[in-house]
Parts: sequence; structure tokens; C-alpha cells
Amino acid sequence: MTSRRAFIQKATIAGSSIAALNFWNISELKAVDHPSSQEDFWYQVRKSFYQSPQFINLENGYFSPQPLETLRAFQGYQKMVNEQPSFYMRTRQYEERFLVKKQLAELAGVSVDELVITRNTTESLDTVILGLKLEKGDEAIMTDQDYLSMVEAFRQKAKREGTVNKMITLPKWPKSDEEVVKAYENAITKKTKVILVTHLINITGQVLPVRKICDMAHSYGVEVICDSAHAFAQLDFKIPDLGCDYLGTSLHKWLCTPIGAGLLYVKKEKIHRVWPLFGDDSFAEDDIQKFEHIGTHPPYTNLAISNAIDFHLTIGAQRKEKRLKELRNYWIDGVKDIKGVTFNMPLEDSRASAIGNISKEGYEPKDLATYFYEKHRIFTVSIFRENVKGVRVTPHLYTSFRELDQFIDAVKKA
Ligand SMILES: Cc1ncc(COP(=O)(O)O)c(C=O)c1O
Repeated sequence: MTSRRAFIQKATIAGSSIAALNFWNISELKAVDHPSSQEDFWYQVRKSFYQSPQFINLENGYFSPQPLETLRAFQGYQKMVNEQPSFYMRTRQYEERFLVKKQLAELAGVSVDELVITRNTTESLDTVILGLKLEKGDEAIMTDQDYLSMVEAFRQKAKREGTVNKMITLPKWPKSDEEVVKAYENAITKKTKVILVTHLINITGQVLPVRKICDMAHSYGVEVICDSAHAFAQLDFKIPDLGCDYLGTSLHKWLCTPIGAGLLYVKKEKIHRVWPLFGDDSFAEDDIQKFEHIGTHPPYTNLAISNAIDFHLTIGAQRKEKRLKELRNYWIDGVKDIKGVTFNMPLEDSRASAIGNISKEGYEPKDLATYFYEKHRIFTVSIFRENVKGVRVTPHLYTSFRELDQFIDAVKKA
């Protein structure tokens, strides 16, 4: 038995709680939990993040800054591990990671036996894609709007193992959930084994009806891998609500953890179907811990997840989703009647997220993003994919309406 395994088995969590790991408090934020004015509350949230005064950041799709208290906690954990280097790793590392895992499992609504802390979505999903036990000729379905790292992993699998990838076109402005489900269903054959579904399309912000896609796929005996990089902790849901078999996300996006934290969920009965990325034979084939074997890596990143969860819960998942949509709707409303503006995403609330994507007649995406930054000090990102061309606009919880007014003004002046 490895020392890692022995340690986890010995770790007793009775008497110790994750709160003990949090040496900070969020009393200031909690004090305005029931604000007389909603904007007082969001002003406090805004103050929980430090943002450069040099520019307005409307590109929060890459990763999220940490709230200051999470950052402080992270730096404290870093100092603590630096002071007790191998002592920490040999005596406390596994137990404390397990406590964080428990907290994450509760947040995600899954068992701790179905979850691994990874470094990001790419690690989570590439582990599943490359490790999934498929046969030569087995087919996988994905869309032209999925994240390229996942598509590339499927391409590599096809080269190595002879699996076949089927790329479908995802409707950009679907009229119904059924239209989206049908797009996947039409590509299913007797050889289809797995579908990759992106929960929230990163280049447009479109939210897909994952539950309906999973139900349809399962009726054909097809498994579903969900890329929830942008949806987890942005939208208010628990993983079992989706019905997927595998899910990966990056906690450094909307959970606001330090960079380098992700989550992999594998449904208990599917764990044995996936090889770990790094060889591990110290755990049984159906033990989720076989995926945790990645060598020495910074434990303080994992510890700070706990603080980010506290921050997230203090705001509340439902309130967070509602606020992000409110910010999005605000700028959309402000620019919708400007001549030459096109929205490259569906506008209905059920398909909406914090992310949006616009074009302006006469501008290439790159030039529009450059114009926003150089003339107005507003940072966005241009998207230039075959099927989606525009500027991605993503406010965050710390974005103010005044900043969005500046963005609306910039679009007007373009
Ligand atoms: C939909 C989607 N999947 C996966 C990823 C990869 O995330 P990471 O780089 O954190 O692994 C991203 C990153 O933006 C994404 O938008």
C-alpha cells in the first residue's frame, strides 16, 4: 500500500472541519447579506476584488481573479507550506486535500468517491477522452463550437487507437432545445459510443440543454462527457441534474480559486472504464483516487479552494447567476438598437450566461477589440473561428453598471 493510500485511510475527519483551514473571515460581506439596496451588496462584492484601475476588464472568460480574501488565504497557505515543506507534505497534505474535496463534493452535489481535484478542465477531460476504453472504429460526436483542446484530444485518440470523430454543426440561434438535441441525435450510428457536450459555449456564451442531450444519448446506450468549464459555479446547478457520465471544469474560472484548480467528476459505475493519465496501480480500477496521481504539485492551490467556496456560498449560486445575467442584459439592452450591431449568440434567458459576443458592421473582430482597448481602455477578446466571428464580452461580479455604460458608449462611437 502506498503511503498516499495509507494516509487517506488513516485520515480521520472527525473533530476537524474545513472551517479550521480558513483563517480569514468574510464578515464584511455577510454583514450586507440582506441589503436594503441590492447595489450596496454588489458594491461590497466589487470591493472584495482588486482590479487594475488602468482599464475596464470585460474579458473574464479566460480565468477569474480571486477575491482578495481568497488571495490572502492562498498566500498564507503558501507561506505555511514553505515553512514546513516536506513535513506538511508527509503529514497533512492528503488529509487536508480530502477535506477540501468533501467541501467541493457537497457544492457539486456528488459523492466524494466520484470526484478528483485536478489542475484544470483540460486535465480533467483529456484524462477521460484519452483514457476511455474504446475500440477501433468506435465513434465520438462533437461540435464545431467545442473547445479545441478537447477536440484535439479526440483527434489524438483517433490517430492512436483508430476511433472515429464526427463533427456536427451546433445551431447558433436554436429555436428550441429539441433542435439542439436533434443535431446530436442525427449523428448517432450503431458505432457511436460517446458524445462530448460543452455545457456553456465559451466563444458565444450559449448554454446547451445538457440534461436533454444526456437523456437522448443514454436511450441509445451512448455515454456523455460534459465540458462544464464555464458553467460550473456560474450557473446554479448540481452535477447530477445534468445526467452526464463524466464532467470536467476549471475552478479558476467562475469559482474564483487560484489558477491551476479543476475538478473531474466520474460517475461511480464508470470509473473502471477510464485509464488514468498517469499510471497508477495502487488503487482499484473503480477507485476515483487512481486519477489523483500527478506527482508533486502546489497544495496551497487546493487549500484555497475552500475559501473560494465560502465566498461563492456567501453570495449564493442563484444570486450569482442572476447578477451575471443582469449585467449581460444591461449591456445588450444598451447596444441592441445601435446600427450595425449583431449578436452572435441566442438572447433568450434559458440559453444565456455571463458571456456574450457581438460584431459591428465594418469591423473585423480583432480591430473592434483593439478599438475598445486603445480608444476606451476596455479589454475584450476577439474570436475568429470558422463559424463564430466577433468580440467576446464578459463582465464579472465586480463589474459596475457605470463601466457597462462606458462600453455601450464605446460601441455607439465605433
Ligand atoms: C469550454 C472550455 N473548455 C475547456 C477550457 C479549458 O480550460 P483550462 O484552460 O482551464 O483547462 C476552456 C477555457 O477557456 C473552455 O472555455
